[in-house]
Amino acid sequence: MLKQLFRTKSLDALVGEGENPEHQLKRALGSFDVVMLGIGAIIGAGIFATIGTAAAGDAMRPGAGPALMLSFVLTGIACGFAALCYAEFASMVPISGSAYTYSYGTLGELVAWIIGWDLIIEYAVGNVAVAISWANYFKTFVAGFGIIIPDWMSIDYRTAAKIPGLLEHAPHFFGVPIVFNLPAFSIVALITIVLVIGIRESARLNTIMVLIKLAVLGVFVWIGFHYVKPANWTPFAPNGWSGIQAGAAVVFFAYIGFDAVSTVAEEVRNPKRDMPIGIIGSLIVCTIIYILVAGVFTGIIPYKALVHTLATSQAEPLTLAMQYANIEKYSNLIIGIIAFGSVIAHTAVLLVFQLGQPRIFFSMARDGLLPQSFAKVHPKFKTPHVTTILTGLVVGVCAMFTTIDEMVDLTNIGTLFAFILVCAGIIILRRREPNRPRAFKTPWVPFIPILGIISCIYLILGLPWITYIRFAVWLLVGMVVYFSYGYKKSRLRKENEGMNA
Ligand code: ALA
Repeated sequence: MLKQLFRTKSLDALVGEGENPEHQLKRALGSFDVVMLGIGAIIGAGIFATIGTAAAGDAMRPGAGPALMLSFVLTGIACGFAALCYAEFASMVPISGSAYTYSYGTLGELVAWIIGWDLIIEYAVGNVAVAISWANYFKTFVAGFGIIIPDWMSIDYRTAAKIPGLLEHAPHFFGVPIVFNLPAFSIVALITIVLVIGIRESARLNTIMVLIKLAVLGVFVWIGFHYVKPANWTPFAPNGWSGIQAGAAVVFFAYIGFDAVSTVAEEVRNPKRDMPIGIIGSLIVCTIIYILVAGVFTGIIPYKALVHTLATSQAEPLTLAMQYANIEKYSNLIIGIIAFGSVIAHTAVLLVFQLGQPRIFFSMARDGLLPQSFAKVHPKFKTPHVTTILTGLVVGVCAMFTTIDEMVDLTNIGTLFAFILVCAGIIILRRREPNRPRAFKTPWVPFIPILGIISCIYLILGLPWITYIRFAVWLLVGMVVYFSYGYKKSRLRKENEGMNA
């Protein structure tokens, strides 16, 4: 049994799966689309929402203060190590399963399952957080036009319970207050429809959204720069290294997404060239933007004022900074533009992650670890419609009823765990198959992957302990599902048994 659990699938067999016409996706994307998908996935709730917590801290962690810039540099470097490893795998095994597929080819079925299960945290749970954050910004944005969405239909129950009077004013059904987040569900439903219709249409929509969010962040940096007071950067690190480390662990959320590009590898015309360009290119662009935004943000608001504001209200950091700057002309217009950019940025993240999750399920189903219906491709649209709709339903319903706070930390630990295994996979595969053709080679192996592993562990250590417990429970549930379904139905296992019979 132990041998079975750690049996690996040959990389040639994995690549062959993608060439079976029954389960084939449409190759429609070029390198520009891939870089755009990367930026689409990366810039979102992280830079627009979580940087406030990272700079100011909260009850569970110290804030980085102006050293937030350093937190972004640290996390950018850690992600850089992982990105180099992802680039090697994605160009060598251009299959939609991402880290799940790479683990199947290197570390065996059990680890592959664990990663596949873990990636649900990165993609689906991450998107629950982004959908809730989207709803908050959307509500603020439309309020600017006088459209007021009632609180009871734009919030979850637990958050509502903390706001005095909200539950009492909600409609009641048999004495139970009715509270749910309708905008969060609606945006996920809308995106699901676009994704079922086609990858080309999805990529086009994504490119438009990416251009808008880059322009809006450009506006923030350009205008905000004039209101920076260098005195606000002192003291640079009010909570020393512990603040910088905790900040780095939070802003990791802002970087998640460059790896999501790897899930469209089967839909890229020239994956050997375009995957490394997409993964590394999008990460470099976003790292530069983040450091600039962090510098301007902390240069406008003094650390103490930020801590006070975030502890007493539900503020959105970048619009808050613009209010604080007290711009003489067009202040409301600029704040409106930032809020609009944020809504668009969140939408693009939702799109790419809703696109990635079904493709991972799709790969797992092709391998027999999930039901076969998950591997169906729509006859007309050529998209994995069953898993796309299922993901949409689960994410949409969860976003209606859950709180954002815990979701971000959980997403971070899940993704860091996946990065560690991808880095380890590179070292293993270089030893096991040194002569396999590699269109892109991670430099200085094993040095870079080892640095990748160490830096991801360092970031995990910056997360609150409760996250470790939640993550362990999630993995335990995954084990139960694997042993009661995937282990028995695995195609690899059946093929091996057939060979031995
Ligand atoms: N990086 C993505 C975001 O910040 C998950 O929303």
